Amino acid sequence: MTSSGAPSYALPLERRARVLDAIGPGVVVLPAAPVHHRNGDVEHPYRQDSDFFYLTGFDEPESVLVLTNQHPEHRTVLFLRRRDPEREIWDGPRVGVEGAVSELGVDAAFDIEELDERLPDYLGDVDRVHARVGRGHPFEARLFRALEVVRGRARKKVRAPSELVDPGKTLHEMRLRKGAYELEVMRRAAVITRDAHLAAMRAARPGRAEYEVEAELLSVFRRGGAERPAYESIVGSGPNATILHYRAGRRRIEEGELVLIDAGCELDYYASDVTRTFPASGRFSPEQRALYDVVLAAQRACIEATRPGATVDGIHEVAVEVTTRGLLELGLLTGSLEENLAEHHYRKFFMHRTSHWLGMDVHDVGAYYVGGEARPLEPGFVLTIEPGIYVGVREDVDAKWRGIGIRIEDDIVVTADGPMNLTHDIPTDADEIERVLAER
Ligand code: GLY
Ligand code: MN
Ligand code: MN
Repeated sequence: MTSSGAPSYALPLERRARVLDAIGPGVVVLPAAPVHHRNGDVEHPYRQDSDFFYLTGFDEPESVLVLTNQHPEHRTVLFLRRRDPEREIWDGPRVGVEGAVSELGVDAAFDIEELDERLPDYLGDVDRVHARVGRGHPFEARLFRALEVVRGRARKKVRAPSELVDPGKTLHEMRLRKGAYELEVMRRAAVITRDAHLAAMRAARPGRAEYEVEAELLSVFRRGGAERPAYESIVGSGPNATILHYRAGRRRIEEGELVLIDAGCELDYYASDVTRTFPASGRFSPEQRALYDVVLAAQRACIEATRPGATVDGIHEVAVEVTTRGLLELGLLTGSLEENLAEHHYRKFFMHRTSHWLGMDVHDVGAYYVGGEARPLEPGFVLTIEPGIYVGVREDVDAKWRGIGIRIEDDIVVTADGPMNLTHDIPTDADEIERVLAER
């Protein structure tokens, strides 16, 4: 599947068969991710589309996968770039049309240049096409042209598709449930991410710039064999820790501040997503510690609640309640617990959700609601647990709390036996964090 020794095409082959079984009569059409131009002759780093990779294990651009239950000979067809010795000198080897059948296990392969000519043949006498539209992918226009060509064949007794279905309905349900291979990759991604966070904690001393800490994370990710970070790393020191989508900047860490690091690697197309918050000087101040312990209590209660049958909404309510109680005890909120919960006063300090699915995408696919109801968790679902408290530099709170931002985030697998924390060995306990920092 990738250079790091993952299986050959057996897994994508089995997934394609499952998709075809699930959809019944119909055709799935799935394009590779487009190449994005950056400037001059430079492109943005290419990363294959997750759905496409899930079903092919193939990371070249300019390809289209067709799965069909309605073709006399083929069930899986790949359009891809043909071999081109001239271009391969610049861009590296291609699988090519000849290699696609033997290396990727598809039934047939064609030059992508032949797509416009051949795609209509796969869409004739088909009622339902599973293709995602509305995302501005350049392939959409080609799909619509192919459908128009099929409609033009009506007088030749060819029936044109009448239904366009989002393939996510089938595919994203599959991706939501992680199998043994996927959980093993996610576990390995978590190990690299652990090493990166520990290295970053050692590096994040007063005087160091946020970008130096980011460099530490990236270095450990790459040396561990991860292809890339799963998202832009956040390294926020002092008041920057309260900016939810802050990136590592040029600010230098100061004595006595907290540092919030939200970073995870992507390994073999699977993400990890971890946040830790710690005191740069090695010891929490009383205010930092008080708020930290509220977030940690919320996080532990939520992890404990991450079991089959629970819901992401229900877990968020646990975080909200523990956080609200803590903020009331510390005087950051006033009034009764009931009133604060009813009026959502906690949102002044905790303004995001507690969880999201995690998998090939950091905010992974899969419905959160089914039939209008919050979906019960099942074994094999993976989600983050990431409560936080962010006290901005604002006039309406006691000065001693201002500029403190804390989030603690782990990656949890739902199992029949209870929560399995993939990132448990990156310390969260405040005393343990202080011990780790004392060893720097
Ligand atoms: N790092 C993205 C998130 O925590 O959702
Ligand atoms: Mn997250
Ligand atoms: Mn995160």
